[in-house]
Amino acid sequence: MTTLGVNIDHIANVRQARKTVEPDPVQFAFLAELGGADSITVHLREDRRHIQDRDVFLLKETIKTKLNLEMAATAEMLGIARKIRPHYVTLVPEKREEVTTEGGLDVKSNVQYLKNFVGNLKDLNIEVSAFIDPLDEQINFSKKIGFNFIELHTGKYAELSGSEQYKELQRIIESTHLANDLGLVVNAGHGLNYNNVKKIASINNMNELNIGHSIVARALAIGLEKSVREMKSLITSN
Ligand code: PXP
Repeated sequence: MTTLGVNIDHIANVRQARKTVEPDPVQFAFLAELGGADSITVHLREDRRHIQDRDVFLLKETIKTKLNLEMAATAEMLGIARKIRPHYVTLVPEKREEVTTEGGLDVKSNVQYLKNFVGNLKDLNIEVSAFIDPLDEQINFSKKIGFNFIELHTGKYAELSGSEQYKELQRIIESTHLANDLGLVVNAGHGLNYNNVKKIASINNMNELNIGHSIVARALAIGLEKSVREMKSLITSN
């Protein structure tokens, strides 16, 4: 059965907009687990634009499921992973100017560096995933480098429609089969929402889907009316 990893970066985005203490992603991880999340994903970016070091440390201490730490393959992040020991790490490309992770990691161009990096994480008993585009060569190199998992980038699938989307879906299905044949566990994510998730979730042997933006957007949609009602009641109850 396909499981759900909930990405809570956007909770931290709201907090960082005011640089205050709420909403606290650690509390929201608890609620995500209550809703059935099978793992909690956070991306600790070099510029710390949303998730902070403190969040990752506290999440590791408090969550009941698994912590998936998304990070760039840098010495700084390796040091943090060594201290925190997340259940697994997903290596992602990172550009300062991007709004979100734009493309997959180019594992093919960094084989030796990534082999050492992944080896260091595995020595710490941390399983490692590569966030890659659904391309045969990226999958083959992920296997060669020693990743345990891959996460297929579904951003393109999410952006397309009609026959173009169908073609991209086939590419993701074929990529999943290839990776499975090589012994890699396959996750997927990016841009998945309440309309487009079913076709990806029903791919054979799809292990886990990582979803953030659409879940947090939906939380606002179904929670705002109640929060306004509570504030209105405080104002008018004197
Ligand atoms: N997987 C990875 C590797 C990501 O970088 C992100 C975005 O942070 C997601 C999944 C979740 O994407 P979305 O927020 O579009 O659901």
